[in-house]
Amino acid sequence: MKILVTAGPTREKIDPVRFLSNASSGKMGYAIASCAAQRGHEVVLISGPVALPAPEKVRRIDVGSAAEMYDAVAAEFPLCDILIMAAAVADYRVAEPFPEKLKKMPGEFVLTLERTTDILSEMGKRKRPGQRLVGFAAESCDLLRYAQEKLAKKNLDWIAANCLADGFGTDSNRIILISRDGKKAELGPAPKAEIARQMLDAIL
Ligand code: CTP
Repeated sequence: MKILVTAGPTREKIDPVRFLSNASSGKMGYAIASCAAQRGHEVVLISGPVALPAPEKVRRIDVGSAAEMYDAVAAEFPLCDILIMAAAVADYRVAEPFPEKLKKMPGEFVLTLERTTDILSEMGKRKRPGQRLVGFAAESCDLLRYAQEKLAKKNLDWIAANCLADGFGTDSNRIILISRDGKKAELGPAPKAEIARQMLDAIL
């Protein structure tokens, strides 16, 4: 199968040297990409800026912003059987990034943000019969309710729900994998490589 995986954070430019981002390490997405490639699948990994080497036998496409990740996913999605969106994509970008480095000024500084495109929702609309979509939901409260809402709203086949305290930026994770027909499987707590194996067992 051809499996498309996204991983890591995105960076939304404020000026030439500053950006908005988040603390995603990329480890969960890289573990999934690596495990799928070891099993002989054709894997494309679309990665935000992270400090990890490309897993063996994986074609990695490096991107910076949410818009760049969208373009890369949109180009690869028609060719893939499964898209697993493990990336922590920014929901907002700076409406008008500054072309020159900002100088500090007295008083408050207000930055106007605008929404980015929701990549997963878009691919949910374009999904062909036979294609599968897997999303992640990192929540700090009401985990199952929010995850199930995202699964339905974005037209997903599975959602991997995790509490922020369990997996963001760390080496291990604990996930509740929820399928479209409402089945739930608890994975972990375990190292991300093990979670990746269990996720792929369930999905494939
Ligand atoms: N996602 C995406 N494109 C975005 C934002 C998120 O594809 N612009 C994907 C993520 O990769 C993840 C899932 O959507 O698989 C997360 O869902 P989302 O509703 O964006 O969760 P949060 O970012 O936590 O946002 P919310 O404030 O709605 O909880």
